[in-house]
Amino acid sequence: MNAGIFKKCFEFKRVEELKRLGFYPYFNRVESAQGPEVTIDGAKKIVVCSNNYLGLANHPKVIEASCEAARRYGTSGTGSRFLNGNIDLHEKVEKKFSAFVGKEASILFTTGHHSNLGALSSLVGKGEMFITDKLDHASIIDGCRLSFGEMARFRHNDMDDLERQLKRYEDKEKLIVVDGVFSMEGDIANLPEIAKLAKKYNAGVFVDDAHSLGVLGKTGKGTGEYFNLEDEVDVLMATASKSLASVGGFISSNKEVIEYIKNTARTLIFTASLPPACVGAIDMALDLIVQEPERREKLLKNSRKMLIEFKKLGFNTNNSETPIIPLTVGSDETAFKMWRMLFDEGVFASPVVSPAVPQGQAIIRTSYMATHTDEHLDFILEKFAKIGKKLGVI
Ligand SMILES: Cc1ncc(COP(=O)(O)O)c(C=O)c1O
Repeated sequence: MNAGIFKKCFEFKRVEELKRLGFYPYFNRVESAQGPEVTIDGAKKIVVCSNNYLGLANHPKVIEASCEAARRYGTSGTGSRFLNGNIDLHEKVEKKFSAFVGKEASILFTTGHHSNLGALSSLVGKGEMFITDKLDHASIIDGCRLSFGEMARFRHNDMDDLERQLKRYEDKEKLIVVDGVFSMEGDIANLPEIAKLAKKYNAGVFVDDAHSLGVLGKTGKGTGEYFNLEDEVDVLMATASKSLASVGGFISSNKEVIEYIKNTARTLIFTASLPPACVGAIDMALDLIVQEPERREKLLKNSRKMLIEFKKLGFNTNNSETPIIPLTVGSDETAFKMWRMLFDEGVFASPVVSPAVPQGQAIIRTSYMATHTDEHLDFILEKFAKIGKKLGVI
């Protein structure tokens, strides 16, 4: 290990220092199933950092469907869907997903991250453009990087800046790419304006509904349904790792676009297919989203309560309108301290520090589930109030 290439690894001391101070908040070892409560180091914690929005990740029917798929198809697809790894259950779930979101066709990738990488790099080629929001998810940025196209970014949800970029690249083929719900901010893309501008400048619209599926819209179909603009979303991406209680990623669109992506996306062709147990879980979760709409209603009720109560306590909740509620706490150091104090008092949250957010605007990102009870929520509020005051955040 004397080669210079490894020097940076041996000089990388930031994590060691945080661990020594007891402020390293990552890679906690969960010893139980994912729910509103988990066990870490033998102690119970109330979770406010999960994407298990509808609480399906520990649902007996989802677990049984997952086990049944493993019993029938085995534990692995043993190869790419392109070659030997495609099972009928992948295609059944794609059809079910297309019917749910109202698109002609869908393709299921092995992760949500892979679906953005594969679809974006396949759709935008040399001489063509991505127009992306500055706060788009990292997987969108990675997808743009994998492509031979170019990327122009507009200020977060700033429609004047979006128009400036569209005008600037008027003579090029363009794809506007946005998160439906922004993963750190919890605010919603301005789809009505985006759709108008896309028409005006002849651009395609790609919406990443990772945090919107099962959450936004009358029936949980996502950002398009929320604004009653489903047809304005040309390409919809959704991950199975959040409301769908599994792992995997869908891209949905018309059948020509899906056929093209299916036969050109590197992250579909050159990786093994989603394992049967994960596909079985998605299959059941999609049924439960339809059969148990009360889950979404409870999720929204819980989220509304937390937004109102955090504001009453004096927290800055930014522009959140969804189950993702980021609380600005100030310096990175305050965020790490607050994370530790919350953790010690039984609340498992996520600190988000620079460079993910600007210096001095670190946040504690919280997110809610249908399965949080009022007792859980009151406990969380009590701890945030106590620690927020102690640290001078409120
Ligand atoms: C907005 C957004 N897009 C894509 C992804 C990637 O999805 P996955 O984690 O299922 O690979 C995430 C995950 O955090 C996300 O938040």
